[in-house]
Amino acid sequence: MPYLQFLIAALLGLPPVIFLAHLVFYFVDPYGLRQYPGPFLARLTPAWLGWAAQQVHRAEAVHEAHKKYGPFVRISPSEVSVAVPEALPIVYGHGNGALKSSFYDSFISIGGRAIFSTLDRVQHARKRKTVAHIFSPKSVLDFEHYIRVHITTLLGQWERMYDDALKGLSGPEGEGWTGRDGRLWFDCRPWIGYLALDTIGDLAFGAPFGMLAAGHDAARVPATAAARKDAHFKKTETTHAPAIALLNGRGEYVAALGVLPAWWRPLAAYLPWYRARAQSASELAGMAIVAVAKRLATPSDRVDVLSKLLDGKDEHGQPLGREELTVEAHAFLIAGSDTTATSLTAIMFHIAANPAVQERLQEELDVFLGIGDDPIAWHEQVKQLPYLDACINEGLRVNCTNASGLPRVVPEGGLIIQGQHFPAGAVVGVPIYTVHRDPEVWGEDADVYRPERWLDADSEKAALMQKTFTPFSSGPRACIGRNLALLEIVIIVATLFRRYNFVLAEPDKPIETREGFLRKPVHCNVGIKRRDVY
Ligand code: HEM
Repeated sequence: MPYLQFLIAALLGLPPVIFLAHLVFYFVDPYGLRQYPGPFLARLTPAWLGWAAQQVHRAEAVHEAHKKYGPFVRISPSEVSVAVPEALPIVYGHGNGALKSSFYDSFISIGGRAIFSTLDRVQHARKRKTVAHIFSPKSVLDFEHYIRVHITTLLGQWERMYDDALKGLSGPEGEGWTGRDGRLWFDCRPWIGYLALDTIGDLAFGAPFGMLAAGHDAARVPATAAARKDAHFKKTETTHAPAIALLNGRGEYVAALGVLPAWWRPLAAYLPWYRARAQSASELAGMAIVAVAKRLATPSDRVDVLSKLLDGKDEHGQPLGREELTVEAHAFLIAGSDTTATSLTAIMFHIAANPAVQERLQEELDVFLGIGDDPIAWHEQVKQLPYLDACINEGLRVNCTNASGLPRVVPEGGLIIQGQHFPAGAVVGVPIYTVHRDPEVWGEDADVYRPERWLDADSEKAALMQKTFTPFSSGPRACIGRNLALLEIVIIVATLFRRYNFVLAEPDKPIETREGFLRKPVHCNVGIKRRDVY
């Protein structure tokens, strides 16, 4: 929706008295933020940030604002974006007292706050302690076996399509594939989505969703809203819904709704853009409800996310009720699948787009994986390959799965960032997309995908890069699934690039993205050819 149209829609929805309240807020300036520059409308109303989020390019809009106004930009009446790498530990570090802001209220689902959306420190610590153990570097290795099962299914599908592609055939699996010039041409993005969803389905709910085997984006959800309510406790009528599309819709919904003040949110529900995406959010919740109900109906002695949640206690020391259990499982379903799939797709796109990078990566993989062995890399074989790590880090840096500043409320006593004092109650965030492109850290070619920068840096530079590199955030709210995500990513990238040579279908076209809560590649259209290493 164009900016003006969005603004008019927002203003028409607002009684003039509320609009005046924004003016009063601007002049009263309770957090002393008027001194910070920013787009005129952003300083006056949250509509600017709402518009940027609706354009699905918020990180780029904020990045442009930083180029124009400098490192401190007021992006909303009570929020300042701070594009300063030193701000990362100050805003997100342990013990600084900054809590997640009301932005995260838009993530509330199935009637409760999960580990991800909980604002309260004590509640959050309790939730995190329940599951933290299974995400330790050592414990996640117990999941490698399950991950390999799903990569085997993916390879089985790609090999079959590849053999048919060599005969000039085509087919509907994924979003369609075709054979031409000795290659299999397809969009690998949905396949990586199936892989991530089936893997998290297995690790969190005890069974994959069956997307890889079907070669199709379809997960079981309750057939109606009424069935969704009953599905917690009894078998209800179900239907299939496209999980990847639901994740996309829900991500755009929560990101655009979260930047609006609480009193705007019910009004946004009347705008078609929000209404369509709200539906995705509730269907996705239905997917978690069905999966939890199915798992609890068939008890298992496996140690996984759900078994840990079943051992967990609520704030009264009682076992988690079915709803809280489902709320948490739902959070893991989303946090553990969409992020990994998005990051992997971006990494694969960039390696495919850079033939010299791909060649160097394959040389390294051939040396360390040997010839003719197991087609799926073992973590032990690939956990510390310097060029593979550089390719992955560089993908996580330039694409930025979580690209926008994760908003935090300044605690009592305020925060000081580069000599600027932010009072309690103001909201600050460090825009990851922008600090991941800071030329003082990454050099003048910061926009370019160049894995070599991770290997060429001297120790001082390397330390600065590591301090600024923050794909999993840091501090008490950092990603709990980091070890699992990296385990999956390293095995999958090594396996796929050792087995196939990738070329982009449109080599001159830059990556196209849409940002909801995550900044996602829209497609990764490639042609693959089996390499002669087996
Ligand atoms: C490459 C993949 C991943 C990336 C880039 C990523 C990134 C992040 C980031 C930046 C946060 C902080 C969000 C915020 O403060 O709003 C986060 C939190 C979280 N992530 Fe991940 N994540 C990934 C994979 C995973 C996986 C595989 C899981 C679980 C299976 C997971 C579970 C979570 C959870 C539960 C939180 C909330 C933690 C808390 O608040 O204590 N993530 N992730």
